[in-house]
Amino acid sequence: MSTNLKYLSLGILVFQTTSLVLTMRYSRTLKEEGPRYLSSTAVVVAELLKIMACILLVYKDSKCSLRALNRVLHDEILNKPMETLKLAIPSGIYTLQNNLLYVALSNLDAATYQVTYQLKILTTALFSVSMLSKKLGVYQWLSLVILMTGVAFVQWPSDSQLDSKELSAGSQFVGLMAVLTACFSSGFAGVYFEKILKETKQSVWIRNIQLGFFGGIFGLMGVYIYDGELVSKNGFFQGYNQLTWIVVVLQALGGLVIAAVIKYADNILKGFATSLSIILSTLISYFWLQDFVPTSMKDWVGQVQWLIPLIPTLWEAKAEELLEPMSLRPA
Ligand code: C5P
Repeated sequence: MSTNLKYLSLGILVFQTTSLVLTMRYSRTLKEEGPRYLSSTAVVVAELLKIMACILLVYKDSKCSLRALNRVLHDEILNKPMETLKLAIPSGIYTLQNNLLYVALSNLDAATYQVTYQLKILTTALFSVSMLSKKLGVYQWLSLVILMTGVAFVQWPSDSQLDSKELSAGSQFVGLMAVLTACFSSGFAGVYFEKILKETKQSVWIRNIQLGFFGGIFGLMGVYIYDGELVSKNGFFQGYNQLTWIVVVLQALGGLVIAAVIKYADNILKGFATSLSIILSTLISYFWLQDFVPTSMKDWVGQVQWLIPLIPTLWEAKAEELLEPMSLRPA
């Protein structure tokens, strides 16, 4: 049962990440009249939707009894303020991370940002080993390094794609520091959330309500700080259209799926799933949307396709099995 949930949640994550990237890309290229939606408000709406969906899931787990739902929310959230407060840590770090990524994207070209951000595959593994005492063998580290390099190469820009606008060394340094800090915060927040999920009794949906609660508060602070004036002039939902709602729903779904993946699989497997979706969305945008894809991508798809079976094989390999001579293996 839990193996099924593990692969189901990983499969949905690949689907969700791929469709989110493609929808966001499509929504950005679409020419619209009037003001564009504010991404700071979209973050808050996504948190609210996530909380509502989690409440529905808790309601279903309480055998669809409103009284039981009320009791669970009271007992597990209101009456356990210290347990609830624990989630302010990953939530605060995720908020910081989202802002750091914004700083990174303003100071680096998109390709450098994407390539450097892949380092989070290794920081996640490092935090999983140090905080959760996970054991990774040599071949597993090797497969993570190959995965990280493979995804980085798929995103490598071609000369023509490089930003023509000159970025100063100082601003490149700020961008690089921001993205490197985000790699560590991503690894730490994910593993911290996994530790809370796996070492305490509260259900994953209750934990997500707590996370979303703090996320909503931090998000509202973001709206006030960045877009307070625009919101008071044109309203909270300015520029929202059907596509905005699809992006927001996909983002909220992403939060739910990531939580399920962390619960039933782990953060390292989450890295495998998101890497797969990076490759998928690049391929789809090239073949279906006739999008511009760096020439290096076309070359690299040919050259790195052998990594696809190699990485899982290495990951599953036990060092002694690979080192043992064939003749010594039982027939
Ligand atoms: O890049 P990374 O994988 O660390 O991004 C994780 C994202 O997932 C963050 O933006 C965070 O807000 C979101 N998340 C969520 N619900 C969870 C865990 C993560 O919305 N339970």
